[in-house]
Amino acid sequence: MAFPTDRPATWFVTGTSRGLGLELVRQLLERGDGVAATTRSSERLLAALGDDFDTTRLLPLTVDLRDEEQVKQAVRRTTDHFGGLDVVVNNAGYGFLGAVEETSGQDVRDMLDVQVVGVWNVLRAALPVLREQRAGHIVNVSSVLGLTAVPGWALYCAGKFALEGLSEALAAEAADFGIDVTIVEPGYFRTDFLTQDSLALPTATTEHYPALREMVESHLKLQGSQLGDPVKGAAAIIDRVRTGAGPLRQVLGSDSHAYATAKVQALQANLDATADSAPATDFPAAA
Ligand SMILES: NC(=O)c1ccc[n+]([C@@H]2O[C@H](COP(=O)([O-])OP(=O)(O)OC[C@H]3O[C@@H](n4cnc5c(N)ncnc54)[C@H](OP(=O)(O)O)[C@@H]3O)[C@@H](O)[C@H]2O)c1
Repeated sequence: MAFPTDRPATWFVTGTSRGLGLELVRQLLERGDGVAATTRSSERLLAALGDDFDTTRLLPLTVDLRDEEQVKQAVRRTTDHFGGLDVVVNNAGYGFLGAVEETSGQDVRDMLDVQVVGVWNVLRAALPVLREQRAGHIVNVSSVLGLTAVPGWALYCAGKFALEGLSEALAAEAADFGIDVTIVEPGYFRTDFLTQDSLALPTATTEHYPALREMVESHLKLQGSQLGDPVKGAAAIIDRVRTGAGPLRQVLGSDSHAYATAKVQALQANLDATADSAPATDFPAAA
């Protein structure tokens, strides 16, 4: 897609009262673009921006992303208000740290409702607009944990791996309509992600995973010393969309790049180790 240069662009960003989403809103408004910003609390978003911030081109939208009708209305209000839509950023998300057997059915449904169903609601509402105009850019904020999985993060990884699969298929489908897709894969970023306000934990734990309990403690202590700078992260995402140049996956952070590289190497070793045995289940070639 050619990012508009003759007029302010219109962005639809989810999960904006904190962290990366808030920083995106700040920088986009400073650029002079229009931003429809969804949040569970518009008051929290406006308070975070502060009284002196110019919010003339902000459309704050209190939306429950799990509710398809609310999401549809939010996209409709965006196009009515700004006269169009150029970029969608599915940013809302939260972490969950617990063992697989400590994760309840409700925990699973809650996570997938936000990270998969919610994203799908946004896509179903926004894609017809972008497809019709044959231009647009969809940015799905995944994680390096959408590429590789580590103990304690199974539920979060399940959500982000699902988002990666959905995004990869979408990228191939949407290209025919001039719509770009970018999957953003941050490493640890210094947002609210690892605070008790954001990070979810199982309601009941067992004594069998002491290493995971230590991991929770060490992650909460990491707050404030994560490698990734959200100001630079938001700027990099905006730049990727503005220039239209770059691969499908935007890896953010040297930690993310190292983890992802290790995953690719392990996957390649796995493929090499099964190269001889994999064809054994094929039907014989037709004579
Ligand atoms: N920070 C990291 O280390 C890191 C690493 C990899 C990936 N990520 C991803 O980056 C994205 C932004 O996270 P962040 O680092 O900016 O974290 P954050 O500071 O905790 O902000 C997360 C945002 O997501 C929204 N959100 C959280 N829980 C939600 C829920 N249950 N339902 C709907 N919205 C919810 C919140 O929006 P409202 O409160 O405004 O509704 C909030 O603004 C997420 O998708 C996260 O998974 C972060």
